[in-house]
Amino acid sequence: MSEIKTQNAKDFTDAPLCLSGRGVTKAFGIGEKRKLAVDHVDFDFHEGEFVSIVGESGSGKTTLSKMLLGLLNVTEGQILFRGKPRDISSGRKKREYWKGIQAIFQDPFSSYNVFHKIDSVLLDCINMRGGKHLPKEKKIEMMTEACSFVNLKFAELTNKYPFELSGGQMQRLMIARIFLLRPNILLADEPTSMIDACSRATILDMLLKLRDETGMTVIFITHDIGLAYYISDSVYIMEHGKFVEAGAPDKVMLTPEAPYTKRLISDVPKIHEPWDLSTVDLLQQEA
Ligand SMILES: Nc1ncnc2c1ncn2[C@@H]1O[C@H](COP(=O)(O)OP(=O)(O)O)[C@@H](O)[C@H]1O
Ligand SMILES: [Mg+2]
Repeated sequence: MSEIKTQNAKDFTDAPLCLSGRGVTKAFGIGEKRKLAVDHVDFDFHEGEFVSIVGESGSGKTTLSKMLLGLLNVTEGQILFRGKPRDISSGRKKREYWKGIQAIFQDPFSSYNVFHKIDSVLLDCINMRGGKHLPKEKKIEMMTEACSFVNLKFAELTNKYPFELSGGQMQRLMIARIFLLRPNILLADEPTSMIDACSRATILDMLLKLRDETGMTVIFITHDIGLAYYISDSVYIMEHGKFVEAGAPDKVMLTPEAPYTKRLISDVPKIHEPWDLSTVDLLQQEA
């Protein structure tokens, strides 16, 4: 595998808003132990935009993702969905919200019931999208299409269990799931950090293809600023729960202002040249 990437970000400033935040904050603990894991962050993610949130471990990325997904309450501030304050105050409203936002996590096996066969995972997605009463042939056609979107063969997956797949295949299946669910927003929290180097570039390509073909907004969470640079339309840099810098990848990476951004960049070997992802993967493995 040798994949050369070049930066080709688009400006989404004038595109419709998809998900926004104003002063979004999460506090853990009480009294002296109270700590702000996410500290008054503002953001505007647009329809079809590929956004990266970059920060080191412990900077608050997963806490923010969980708030965006509505899995964790917001301590302070407001999240807006398509320009309107988000209402997830009841189970029904939450389920409605989840039609619009779905996630892929670090560990592709964590979101699966290991006793469920792979076809049932995909079938559930069709049912969730209101396809419960479709003829069986139509459902098989949809599952086959979703699998081929991620270069998997449905015929080879039927009757298999998740543990019979590799991490990379499993993560691709997660993307096939998203392909069937068609949310407005996909949140991917370090989706490539637990899979082998070879599969990593493939997963990134598939996320980009998903965005290009469906117009989905992708929120990509990573500790790897080099990776974020090459795939994003906009980048948010997170340090100790705060966004210390945000903007177009070229602006953030080539003229960084925050000392934290400068430090993250100095850890990346060569930022101005086209990126050879196979080299990045090797360097990461050695680190
Ligand atoms: N449930 C929790 N209770 C208390 N502290 C937490 C909890 N979840 C996360 N934290 C703390 O919040 C901070 C941010 O964590 P996290 O959002 O997981 O960061 P990241 O995903 O960037 O590694 C860390 O200091 C972490 O220890
Ligand atoms: Mg995390």
